[in-house]
Amino acid sequence: MTIPTRPWWKDSTVYQIYPSSFLDSNGDGLGDIPGIVSKIDYLASLGIDVIWLSPMYDSPQHDMGYDISDYEAVYPPYGTVADIETLISACHSRGMKLILDLVVNHTSDEHKWFQESRSSKDNAKRDWYIWRPAKYNEKGERMPPNNWRSFFSGSAWAWDEHTQEYYLHLFATQQPDLNWENPATRQAIYDSAMKFWLDKGVDGFRVDTVNMYSKGTELPDAPIIDEGIFEQPASGLFCNGPRMHEFLREMNTQVLGKYDAMTVGELPHTPDPAHVLRYIGSGDKQLDMVFQFDIVDLGIGHTHKYEYQGYKLPELKAVVAKWQSFIEGSDGWTTAFCENHDQGRSVSRFASDAPEWRERSAKMLALMMCALTGTLFIYQGQEIGMINAPASWPIEDYKDIESINYYNSVAARTNNDPEALDRVMKSIQILGRDHARIPMQWDDSPYAGFTTKKDGAWMRVHDEYRSINVASQISNPKSVLNFWKKMLKVRKEYRELFIHGAFEAYDMDDEKTFVFGKRIGESRAIVVLNFTGVEQEFKRPGVGGKWELLAGNVEGVDGTEGKLSPWEGRIYLVK
Ligand code: GLC
Ligand code: CA
Repeated sequence: MTIPTRPWWKDSTVYQIYPSSFLDSNGDGLGDIPGIVSKIDYLASLGIDVIWLSPMYDSPQHDMGYDISDYEAVYPPYGTVADIETLISACHSRGMKLILDLVVNHTSDEHKWFQESRSSKDNAKRDWYIWRPAKYNEKGERMPPNNWRSFFSGSAWAWDEHTQEYYLHLFATQQPDLNWENPATRQAIYDSAMKFWLDKGVDGFRVDTVNMYSKGTELPDAPIIDEGIFEQPASGLFCNGPRMHEFLREMNTQVLGKYDAMTVGELPHTPDPAHVLRYIGSGDKQLDMVFQFDIVDLGIGHTHKYEYQGYKLPELKAVVAKWQSFIEGSDGWTTAFCENHDQGRSVSRFASDAPEWRERSAKMLALMMCALTGTLFIYQGQEIGMINAPASWPIEDYKDIESINYYNSVAARTNNDPEALDRVMKSIQILGRDHARIPMQWDDSPYAGFTTKKDGAWMRVHDEYRSINVASQISNPKSVLNFWKKMLKVRKEYRELFIHGAFEAYDMDDEKTFVFGKRIGESRAIVVLNFTGVEQEFKRPGVGGKWELLAGNVEGVDGTEGKLSPWEGRIYLVK
């Protein structure tokens, strides 16, 4: 086999699809695989190379399919395995690839492996999950084995009456963690969750919570940072555990290395670039690239995500610069993204979703993203500038287990204190995972053209769908959609500079503008962005000779203007 010097996934633009919210083809209110197949030409025309499909496996849907009950079956309302095969060939025949979500830190509690595991203490699969006996406090009350808090509030341990032990679940109670210490478990994961799909022609995986498989075996208590309650955030203890790199190396030797597959790992709670590089160095093959989460974690609360604190522009610039530059001088690769199915919409979080600025600021963010080094990921609806649900939506309109559980836990803890609940709602309005899960806005017909079901989609559609939708943007040359199409082309045309160039930071302390450069050999580009709703001067870095405007989001600008209009962005080529 010849080893290509530049693998296909480096220059690719990946488009993430969330199956429940993309397009409902049969009027049951829920998106589905045939809906995706019917939009393949739309996706091809956008200029994307790879589709990443969030979980479409069979699941009781406690966490929107990230709780898988059968890796080898499709959730029936979404379609069938044959529908996925159709999708694979629809992609391949257009020169596109398809990657799936690999969720193997945990399964659903309805997976047959867990059903067996919980059936008795001496079942052959008992050890496929993480079981521990209870502890007892001074009062003789039964307590979980440690104080870890689950990501979805409450203890990370659930008591099993039948066998009188606790099992570990870092996420929902219905998502028991698999025991990666057991080689038989690992083998079953490789066969069922990976080879089954790779052999059908999928081109790789986005790997869910990739650094949590190795937790060590001691499982000590986490330090107390959230006073007054028992459960404590413990990611420092269960992320990047002792055998993590060994497991991923094995996954590569045994499975991935045998296919031309790309992997992008979800790597939360890993701030040290040297450590991130250990996962992606090509010498010690583990993952091709990762999502490091600093950009989407901007402003999140200290004790809990939904205790939003806000951030200032220099913090955003610092994280962009850090995760752009960290691969320089190494053989690792990076990613560029600012949205996914777990995040609020980028226009609402990082720019302005006010009616007068939302289109321009969506284009400004597109300009920034298309100039960044690494594999670019965009999330469904980002290409039309979809925005967060408005502040008027009550908690009842939110569907996500993370938001609802946290809201309920604060309600219980504070005895329904309106101030505390108001603070949580404000945070959810910015960070809630549901914003990304609002049905895709296709046109201005009822329910945004997402479904023909009389009483609507599985989740409330956005109030603004008549003014933000695909149909109206396709026919408007000045739309956000057409801007993305153009910028994705520009990115490819200048791929050395934008996809592979070195990142240069210029105005790191400025709280209003972001000026950065990209450089490869003698070529150089300068990107200038106004992150405010008022006119701004920007500091021209003293580099190069002639500045030539390559792209911008404001009409009629020739590039010589010293000032930037509100939310204006420009890219210059510097000769
Ligand atoms: C990842 C997914 C998220 C899910 C969690 C548990 O963070 O992106 O949606 O809830 O893992 O699988
Ligand atoms: Ca459907």
